[in-house]
Amino acid sequence: METVVSGIRSTGNLHLGNYFGAMLNFIRMQNEFNCFFFIADYHSLTTHPKPADLRRNVRQVLAEYLACGLDPAKSTLYVQSDVPEVAELYLLLNMNAYLGELERATTFKEKARKQPDNINAGLLTYPVLMAADILLHKASKVPVGKDQEQHLEMTRQFGNRFNRMYEVNYFPEPVAFNFGGALVKVPGLDGAGKMGKSEGEGNAVFLYDSDDVIRKKVMRAVSDSGPAAPDSPRSEAVENLFALMALVSTDETIRFFDQAYKDCSIRYGDMKKQLAEDMIRFITPIRERIEDNLRDESLLEKAMAIGREKARTSADKTVAEVREIIGMRY
Ligand code: ADP
Ligand code: TRP
Repeated sequence: METVVSGIRSTGNLHLGNYFGAMLNFIRMQNEFNCFFFIADYHSLTTHPKPADLRRNVRQVLAEYLACGLDPAKSTLYVQSDVPEVAELYLLLNMNAYLGELERATTFKEKARKQPDNINAGLLTYPVLMAADILLHKASKVPVGKDQEQHLEMTRQFGNRFNRMYEVNYFPEPVAFNFGGALVKVPGLDGAGKMGKSEGEGNAVFLYDSDDVIRKKVMRAVSDSGPAAPDSPRSEAVENLFALMALVSTDETIRFFDQAYKDCSIRYGDMKKQLAEDMIRFITPIRERIEDNLRDESLLEKAMAIGREKARTSADKTVAEVREIIGMRY
C-alpha cells in the first residue's frame, strides 16, 4: 500500500475552507492508504511561540482533527516532536542541502521579508525538515496545495541526491496528491477570493465559532445591490454566497434562492440568514466534538500515544537503514 504523509501547521485552527479543501481528502485517504498525519510543532518554532501557546495550539489542532473524523486506528496521527528521529534525518539531509537553493525558496524569501528581525537558520532549513518529515516514512504521496509544490520539489531533490551519493535506490519520489480531481476552492465572506485565516477579520468561518459569531460573520458578508434584470449574471460576491450554500444547504434551499435571484425577488438578508443557520447546523456537531475532545485529557493523550508508537516504529526503521547506508556501522 502506498504511503501518504502530511504535516499540519500547529497554529492552524480549521475553517470551512480547510475542512472542505483538505480535511475531507484526509478522511478519504485514511481508508485507502497508509497515512501519516502529524502536527508540525518543530516547524512552528521558527516563529518563537510561548510555551503555553504552543501547548494549547497543539492540543486544539489535535482535538479538531479528531472531531472531523481522523481516526487514530486508521491513520497514524502524531505530534512531530514525539518522533525526534526526524531531527536526526534532518541533520543528515542538511549535509547535502545547499545555501543557494535554500535561499531561493519562495517561502524563505517571503518569511525573511515579513520577519526581518528573525531570519533564523530554522527558517532557512525549513524545506529540509519538511523533506525529512516526508522521507522519514518513505512517502510517495503528499496531499498539499500549490503553495507547497516548491517544497515538494526540494524534497525530491534531497532524496534523489542522497540516492545518487550513496548509489542506492532508497528514497521514493513523493508527488502531490488530491485524488486527481480539481482542488475545491471555498470562497470567503468578504466578496472576493478564498476563505483564509489571514484574509482579514470575518472572512473565515471556523469550526469552533459559536452560533452568534457565525451569524454575525455571515450577516456581514459582502453581497451586491441585487440583480438588475431577470437572469442577469451574478457578481463574484453573490456567486460566493451561492458557493457556500452549495456546501452546507439542502438542494431545496439552493433551488429556492437560485430561482429568487433569477426572478429578481431575492433578498440577500434572507439568504444570509438561511446560510448562517445551515452553517450552524453543519458546524455544531463538529464544534461539540472539539469541545468534548479538549475536555477529555485521556482521549487526547491516548491518541497521541497511539500515534507516537506507530510513527516511531516507522521512523526508527528508516533512520537505522539510512545510518547503515551512510556507513555508520563501527
Ligand atoms: P489559510 O489559507 O487559512 O492559511 P492553510 O494554508 O493553512 O489555510 O490551509 C491548509 C490547507 O487547507 C491548504 O493546503 C488547502 O488544501 C486547504 N485550504 C485552505 N483554505 C482553503 C479554501 N478557501 N478552499 C479550499 N481549500 C482550502
Ligand atoms: N509546510 C506545510 C505547510 O505550511 C506543513 C508541512 C510540514 C508539511 N511538513 C510537511 C506538509 C510534510 C506536507 C508534508 O502547510
